[in-house]
Amino acid sequence: MLQVRGLRAGYGTVPVLHEIDIDVEQGEAVAVVGANGAGKTALVRTLSGLIRPMGGSIVKDGVEISRVPGYRRFEHGIAVVLENRNLFTELSVHDNLRLAERAGKRANGGKTRFSFDEVCDLFEILRERGQCAVELLSGGQQQMVAIARALLLQPDLLIMDELTTGLAPRIVKEILAVLNKLRARGMSIVLVEQSVAIASEMTDRAYVLSVGRVIHEVRRGEWSAVLNDKTLIKAYLQG
Ligand SMILES: Nc1ncnc2c1ncn2[C@@H]1O[C@H](COP(=O)(O)OP(=O)(O)OP(=O)(O)O)[C@@H](O)[C@H]1O
Ligand SMILES: [Mg+2]
Repeated sequence: MLQVRGLRAGYGTVPVLHEIDIDVEQGEAVAVVGANGAGKTALVRTLSGLIRPMGGSIVKDGVEISRVPGYRRFEHGIAVVLENRNLFTELSVHDNLRLAERAGKRANGGKTRFSFDEVCDLFEILRERGQCAVELLSGGQQQMVAIARALLLQPDLLIMDELTTGLAPRIVKEILAVLNKLRARGMSIVLVEQSVAIASEMTDRAYVLSVGRVIHEVRRGEWSAVLNDKTLIKAYLQG
């Protein structure tokens, strides 16, 4: 469903990503792992249209989308949970969700993969604090709102950047349980992770990024070999 070929991108004129090739099949969960500064966030921002590529192609369901602006990528089934979440913090949880719901429905001609109620069922907080301004929620709770909002854009490909970094173990567990539910429903996932433990638990395959290049691919069934490869982990994944 997603083919990235020879992707080059950066900040201003400074190149950060070099000749990136990535594939995601329908229903697959794929990780992007790598140390600090490897270019993971730059990749997420390029896939979601927040950085304009300097070269290469991004093809989603047969359509070249690398020139489609970020605010229209959801019309191609792509939704993203950014590191900084980008919520409307002064608006309530439900207002954030309703805005996404409306946009998602419009893009899909009124058809939905995820209803408002279904999405609110994923995390208790979404009903309990529905009328609460997002800025009054904890970081973990805001992350739940960000995931819910992304789902209401009705994506078939969900891209997430460091979803669980810095969150309490209990919250991490709750979020990963929801990811598993989404996988069971056939959602295609790109999970950017610094934690190899989480990446290996939550995905089928992975791309290892280092200094803006894919330097290794973890194929289906190869995760256990990677976890035992101390050299790879030490060199590129910081344990
Ligand atoms: N706004 C920016 N302007 C210029 N260069 C940037 C900017 N943001 C990041 N970079 C540079 O781009 C490179 C890739 O950064 P990126 O944030 O994509 O890494 P990352 O893999 O997401 O790291 P982390 O694990 O710390 O989130 C780094 O060398 C970084 O210094
Ligand atoms: Mg990052």
